[in-house]
Amino acid sequence: MDLPSRSPLAKFWSLDSQCVFLNHGSFGATPLAIRKEQRKWQDLLEEEPVRFYEDLAMEFMENSRNALAKMLECDAEDLALIENATTGVNTILRSLVFNEGDEILVPDHAYQACRNTVDFVAERWGAKVITVNIPFPIEGPQVALEAIMAGVSDRTVLALIDTVTSPTGLLMPFEELVRQLESKGVAVMLDAAHGIGMVPLSLDQLGASYTTSNCHKWMCAPKGSAFLHVRKDLQHLIHPLTVSHGMSFPLGDTTRFRHEFDWTGTRDISAACSIPATIEYMANMVDGGWPAIMKHNHNLAMEGRRILCQRLGIEVPCPEEMITCIATLSLPHSGEEGGIPLHEPDPLHKVLQDKYGIQVPVWSWESPKGRYIRISAQLYNHIDEYHYLADALAAELNL
Ligand SMILES: Cc1ncc(COP(=O)(O)O)c(C=O)c1O
Repeated sequence: MDLPSRSPLAKFWSLDSQCVFLNHGSFGATPLAIRKEQRKWQDLLEEEPVRFYEDLAMEFMENSRNALAKMLECDAEDLALIENATTGVNTILRSLVFNEGDEILVPDHAYQACRNTVDFVAERWGAKVITVNIPFPIEGPQVALEAIMAGVSDRTVLALIDTVTSPTGLLMPFEELVRQLESKGVAVMLDAAHGIGMVPLSLDQLGASYTTSNCHKWMCAPKGSAFLHVRKDLQHLIHPLTVSHGMSFPLGDTTRFRHEFDWTGTRDISAACSIPATIEYMANMVDGGWPAIMKHNHNLAMEGRRILCQRLGIEVPCPEEMITCIATLSLPHSGEEGGIPLHEPDPLHKVLQDKYGIQVPVWSWESPKGRYIRISAQLYNHIDEYHYLADALAAELNL
């Protein structure tokens, strides 16, 4: 099969022209100009490391927090620049104190690394993990909302809620969940790894206790750029995973939260410094800026899903209102013959990669049991790439 057409915008990325890249969702992909921007910061650092860290770094980080705060409609003082969402979730869960018998609520579609963190912390404190089953296929957001709220008891102290679930690509009714959970006294740790650049986030209005999101995913910033937002009334409870100078540094007109998160030891902050340029560069790539990017990617994911469902003869597993820029489908005949054991690579993934040059995740999962595929849609993707994937799957699955 000939490789499919590429989007005219693909030239702004350095993705391998022999690869049909349909997995922006895993790690994102950064445009060439932003990688150049990141190198500019690294060069500046190496010109004079002491001046960079002691005289300039705080101002650069502040610029990045300000740029993020504008997009997130929140106070820049409540943001910490961290490396990734896993760190964000760990920072919160490992800062908090739990009592024996406290309940931490987690839907079964949570990202495994974050679920592991919940299990680790719960075991350490003698807290109880309550796993909520979210059906998939699912009729609509109300089903997820009701399932999660039904898991709340008078012992629930924290809920780990996704904006968009990783395995199933479902947009959760996270705004309503935050409202209902927080009003019952349950602190929400919002895992918005798939968040900024993918769904509009208005953090002050949202009111979640804790939010973390990756800038390296849907904002296309360099790898290792993410933020943690902690509501002002809770900042005294939260410390970075690395205790450093900030814990004892004279306060001045800065909060302890700021001091502690602004310096966690010598690290490469070039990804964080590149945030303002990334926000602007991406917004200028498409008429209409960020809202237009989100709409474009949503429409492409919907169209890609329609093409796959039609070609493979499968039903859509959720309504459009639960789709953002990724879409998960259960492959035909999945769940039969026991499937591929969990944690083992699915050979179909490698066949798609080696024989067709397609990069797309294929995996087995227990909840419910089946074999899944998840497509992503980003500006560099073209509709023909989903037709190509559909043809490859039809051939490999003998459909
Ligand atoms: C829902 C969710 N949470 C957390 C993460 C972890 O992101 P990172 O590896 O950047 O920490 C991911 C990554 O895909 C995710 O999908």
